Amino acid sequence: MSDDLQHLKDETITAVKAAGDLAALEAVRVSALGKKGRITGRMKTLGGLEPAARKAAGQALNALKNAVAEAIEARKTELADAELGARLAGERLDVTLPARPDRLGRIHPISQTMEELVAIFGEMGFTVAEGPDIEDDYHNFTALNIPPEHPARQEHDTFYLPALLPMLAGGSRMVLRTHTSPVQIRTMKKSRPPIRIIVPGRTFRADSDATHSPMFHQVEGLVIDESSHMGHLKGTLIEFCRAFFGVEDLPVRFRPSYFPFTEPSAEVDIGCTRADGQLKIGHGDDWLEILGCGMVHPKVLVNCGIDPARYQGFAFGMGVERIAMLKYGMPDLRPFFDSDQRWLRHYGFLPLEAPSLVRGL
Ligand code: PHE
Repeated sequence: MSDDLQHLKDETITAVKAAGDLAALEAVRVSALGKKGRITGRMKTLGGLEPAARKAAGQALNALKNAVAEAIEARKTELADAELGARLAGERLDVTLPARPDRLGRIHPISQTMEELVAIFGEMGFTVAEGPDIEDDYHNFTALNIPPEHPARQEHDTFYLPALLPMLAGGSRMVLRTHTSPVQIRTMKKSRPPIRIIVPGRTFRADSDATHSPMFHQVEGLVIDESSHMGHLKGTLIEFCRAFFGVEDLPVRFRPSYFPFTEPSAEVDIGCTRADGQLKIGHGDDWLEILGCGMVHPKVLVNCGIDPARYQGFAFGMGVERIAMLKYGMPDLRPFFDSDQRWLRHYGFLPLEAPSLVRGL
């Protein structure tokens, strides 16, 4: 091969190897082998040569053309591989990374605790009833046999609404309900026994410290039929306490108490120990009050048009925050309603990990 051809070959192959992408490589191909390319130009001069010289020059040019074509193919494969490799690297998904737990929401302990209560009492045949947060004086107090001088009725304990539309309340004042007990009245007035309901809901009292919030939650229970007596009340609540706190032989004590709408009335305590400021629920030397209850007062039945000579039953009520704090070891009530993500992440429940009846709560 002549020096001249060797030089052309070296130059072209160097340009092929230097082509950084497929477009640059195509430009090199056109400049060498295209219609007006340098090698094609040389081919065109063969016609003017002597036959012997033409044959030799033709072979040399063909060899050059093949060598360049081969180099272009090889570079093309190289570039295509590199391009694919880069794309694969860029699009790679690392499937071994765990899901980001901080982006998952949590079930609020109040919702979770209410779910647990509904599950436990639902299993015993109770259904859920609800009533309004804004009540009238009659349902919140009067129908429940709460006398005018009762402390709960005082201005500084209860949130009264301005008397804008007194006719809405049938002449009586509207209040933010101080307990879920008015739903007892609403249920007994609109349905006939047998009644077996629980009432989860929001309640309001003018109280605010580490264990009281002006807005809090209660779950009420009501059973009315012809035969339910104090034994059923005790059995139901003992069963509930043991299921909720997950302690099979949890000691439960009924202590005489007073509510205007039940007679007799009792407060329920569960056994616990308090060692080094640590509260442990279960057998122990101490007691913890968790709910109020009693046999529905005959006057309340009469107020709802139910004959106390034929029907009787029991009621109970408990604070949801209080029993949630006891079960899940929360020292302070106030963060329940601060919407602090850190608190919610710590005390809230992941949907798939929430305690449930099927998993023994
Ligand atoms: N309503 C009462 C309270 O808020 C609790 C209670 C409900 C007591 C039902 C007896 C029966 O303190």
